[in-house]
Amino acid sequence: MGGNRRGQDHFGKRAKRENYPARSIYKLQEIDQRVRLLRPGMTVLDLGAAPGSWSLYAAERVTRSGKVVAVDRTPIDIAMPGNVQVITGNALEINPADLLARIDRPGFDAVISDMAPRTSGHRFVDQARSFELFIRALEFAASVCATGGSFVGKIFIGEDFETARRRVRELFAEERIIRPRSIRTESYETYLVGLRRLPAPPSAPGTENTPTA
Ligand SMILES: C[S@@+](CC[C@H](N)C(=O)[O-])C[C@H]1O[C@@H](n2cnc3c(N)ncnc32)[C@H](O)[C@@H]1O
Repeated sequence: MGGNRRGQDHFGKRAKRENYPARSIYKLQEIDQRVRLLRPGMTVLDLGAAPGSWSLYAAERVTRSGKVVAVDRTPIDIAMPGNVQVITGNALEINPADLLARIDRPGFDAVISDMAPRTSGHRFVDQARSFELFIRALEFAASVCATGGSFVGKIFIGEDFETARRRVRELFAEERIIRPRSIRTESYETYLVGLRRLPAPPSAPGTENTPTA
C-alpha cells in the first residue's frame, strides 16, 4: 500500500470510528464547509442516499427543525433520525409532486446527488453513463429545488464535462467544481455545485403541472 493509499484509508477508518456507514460522508462535509450548503431548518433531498452517510450528516446539520428526504433504489438498512424520511425506488422516476408533498413547502433548499452508474470498467462508457445520470439528476433537481436553493451532483470527468457545467450555469446563479480531498486519488469523479437556483420561467398555459427542467 503506497503512502497516498494509506492517507486515503484514513477516511474509511474515521467513518467507522464516527459511526457513518460510508467514507463518502467526508466529501459532503468538505463541500458543505466550502460553500456553506446546509443550515438548521433546511429541507434537503438526497438522491442515491444508500448506505446513508450523506443523509445522516445532512440530518445533523439541518437539525430537528429541518428535514431530509433520502431516496435510493437500494434499501437503507441503518436506523435514521426522526427528521429523515426514506423512500426506496428509482430517484428519477418519482413524481416530483409526491416529494414536495412531504415537505409542505414550495421546494427543497438543497438537492444533493451522489448517484453513480454501475461501472463497467470501460472508462468512456462509465463517463457517458455518469454524464447522463448527472443531467437527469440536475433536471430533476431543477423541478423540486426552491428558488435560491442549491444543487450538488457527482460526475465522472469526461468529454461532456463542459456541457454539464453549462447546464448548471443555466439553472443556478453560481457554479463551482469541488473535488473533495477524500476522493480516492485514482478516481476521476468530482462534484458540480449550483448555488442560488434562478427563478423557473413561468410555465406555458396548460402545462402548469409539468416539472420545469
Ligand atoms: C456512491 S453511493 C451513495 C453513497 C451515499 N451518498 C452515502 O454517503 O452513503 C451511490 C448510490 O446511488 C444509487 N443510485 C444510482 N442510480 C440511482 C437511481 N436512478 N435511483 C436511486 N438510486 C440510485 C445506488 O444505488 C447507490 O446506493
